[in-house]
Amino acid sequence: MRMREVAVTVLAAILAGVGWADVASAETVSLRELAQSRGIAFGSAVSAASLAGDASYARTLGSEFGVVTPEDAMKWAVLRPARDTFRWGDADAIVDAAVANGQGVRGHTLVWHSSLPAWLTGGSFTTTELRDVLKEHVQTTVRRYAGRVKFWDVANEVLNNDGSPRAGFWLERLGEEYIADVFRWAHEADPAAVLYLNEYGAETHGPKADALYALVRSLKEQGVPIHGVGLQAHLTGSSRPDQLPALLRRFTGLDVDVAVTELDVRIPVPVTPAGLASQAEVYRQVTAACLAVARCVSITVWGFTDRRSWIGATYPGWGAATLFDDDLATKPAYRSVADVLTRTDPNAPVGHWPLDDPAGTVAADVSGNGHDATVRGAKADGRVPHVTAFAGDGATTEASTGAPVLNTDGSFTVSAWVSMYSTGVPGVVASQDGETRSAFYLMYQKSTGRWEFTVPSADGTEVTWLTARSASAPVLKRWTHLTGVYEAPTRQLRLYVDGVPDGTRDGVTAWRSTKPFRIGRSLSGGRFDGAISDVRAWNRALPAGEVTGISDRTVAAWGFDNAAIDSSPFGRGTSLNSSGATYDSNALKLDGTGCAEGYGPALRTDRSWTITARVNLAAKGAARTVISQSGTVRDAFYLQYHQSYDRWAVIVPSADATGSDWQQVLSTAPPALNTWTTLSAVYDAQAATLALHVDGVRQGDPLPAVKSWPSTGRIHIGCSGTGGRFNGLIDDVKAYVPAA
Ligand code: G3I
Repeated sequence: MRMREVAVTVLAAILAGVGWADVASAETVSLRELAQSRGIAFGSAVSAASLAGDASYARTLGSEFGVVTPEDAMKWAVLRPARDTFRWGDADAIVDAAVANGQGVRGHTLVWHSSLPAWLTGGSFTTTELRDVLKEHVQTTVRRYAGRVKFWDVANEVLNNDGSPRAGFWLERLGEEYIADVFRWAHEADPAAVLYLNEYGAETHGPKADALYALVRSLKEQGVPIHGVGLQAHLTGSSRPDQLPALLRRFTGLDVDVAVTELDVRIPVPVTPAGLASQAEVYRQVTAACLAVARCVSITVWGFTDRRSWIGATYPGWGAATLFDDDLATKPAYRSVADVLTRTDPNAPVGHWPLDDPAGTVAADVSGNGHDATVRGAKADGRVPHVTAFAGDGATTEASTGAPVLNTDGSFTVSAWVSMYSTGVPGVVASQDGETRSAFYLMYQKSTGRWEFTVPSADGTEVTWLTARSASAPVLKRWTHLTGVYEAPTRQLRLYVDGVPDGTRDGVTAWRSTKPFRIGRSLSGGRFDGAISDVRAWNRALPAGEVTGISDRTVAAWGFDNAAIDSSPFGRGTSLNSSGATYDSNALKLDGTGCAEGYGPALRTDRSWTITARVNLAAKGAARTVISQSGTVRDAFYLQYHQSYDRWAVIVPSADATGSDWQQVLSTAPPALNTWTTLSAVYDAQAATLALHVDGVRQGDPLPAVKSWPSTGRIHIGCSGTGGRFNGLIDDVKAYVPAA
């Protein structure tokens, strides 16, 4: 049984024991038990002084948390008062109490630039001596707690926010190799310990998250024994950790576990109900994010009571960052964490496979229901650069779960993004096995040349095929969204293509299948030839409005309200590259010297794309770029104000090279200053045309014979790779992949 299946059983037992009403109040079952029931651990940092001197603190710590991290007791400054002295008292007390209490322990931390004793930083050691001191420290500490401290934050905060190696004592004295060395020494000292790299500020996409990913990949490639990545998550009430699931999943693609290691959410003090509510929401999102990622093993809060937290001393005007108040009463944040751990959303998918795992043969089920799929097949390009998809070859490929996912005799829905490479084979996108037939087939049907959602009349050899068939024919190599809905009460099958109803079939009675769910094939074969991404399954019939929602083709959608929030499923961060760019209350404000960069390319610029933005131009006089996506020498496109013509323009250079031709479409009239205007640039790869729309009106005929080339650089908002900075306001920047 998988961890999360065991978990469901445990939860059922807990619920049976205490009754639903008690659980609904979310205070009678501890976070420790609730988290365990969901297959993760819930932990807290612990202060040695409070544990020793504050009985109610110790009681709550013992009952509510399944794992503890010594907050300071294992830091060099505490553990090593002198070169030849280890002071184990505080660390031993914490570990002994945890073991007595059946709690796990996360050791923290073996190497860090901070909290180092003066004898070390002021000492005159040769490099060799210092390496010896470090090795001795690591191995003495790890050996002492072997068997009792299962997890170690081996190296802590080794990167700067721009992704460069963090300057500090160890880097300066030992060079970058110290990181790999410390992991190797720790592993030697306790081969069973699970070794983590721990970092802050990598909870959103950006240079630090990218650099952390690159570092972990490089350590893995060198064979360094690293088993996990900890994201600290010191957040505020206005943090929006909506990129966390994607970031955590990205690391698990490197075959490491992930954990949230130091969660706290500070708010302005004195607290207000609104502050507490915003804090509760952030705790809720982080908890949900960990649950959504198969290899997220634990969430640890950095202190559990406002009575003892590092925040007040470090951030004047802020505080109340934890789950319990000064009197150890639970706060709204506690209840929201308990709530997420308790409830499964009845509307949520029962299986959800993004299929974007960068490596490996397991497609994680991010629904939290543990239906990971084993994959036989390769990786294909996904819908946006750097996001992969399942690649079906039409002959040997598939992904399948170990157990059924859908109750196919009740209402159910299954959906997927597909990009078909060939119509030469009947291509099944999703199915669930019966004994001799699949219970349903969401597929391309070669004999009719259409998308189909089919339920055979019985699980036998002689059957009637009941099919909702699309009116539209598939277009090869274009990402298409398919949804099949079976509505049991009306006995109707419905097929949606790109979110639009495209075929129905009445008089269908589906039957129960009890075998695995498959992606990319049916029970009898019928493998898909093409890419499949983001497969989801629900035990209910999704209404049309929800189908439209899940077929959204947006790949980036930045709104600017004091921050840049990408509300697309790809959740990209942005950075501002100078003081000439600020986030206004309603827009990105640019003075002609700054711009914003989105992390990662958003568009496959050699395929069809559309970008739109609302702009308010304050000054002409130079090229004013609204949006571009960088190549090496040129950008793949420029949506801009063109000073030579005094027009809006969308420009596609013919190649990523100097001396390339410029293919451009101009607006019919000059832009008005200080006026909100909506611009859209549309590249149609099939027709090889480029068009510009101003306030919804196309500007002349689309330009023919335009060929765009693939770029993998960043999206820039307000400048291009070479300059051309915008002066004015920009808002509602959207990039999407058109259906037609
Ligand atoms: O215990 C002494 C006390 O005797 C003395 O009177 C007092 C005077 O300053 O200092 C007390 O020690 C302080 C200790 O916290 C316990 O309160 C240290 O000065 C202070 O530097 C230390 O701060 C800790 C900080 O790391 C630096 O080590 C915080 O408790 C701890 O929460 C914080 O934790 C870090 C993680 O290790 C890594 N990630 C970030 C996180 C927050 O900064």
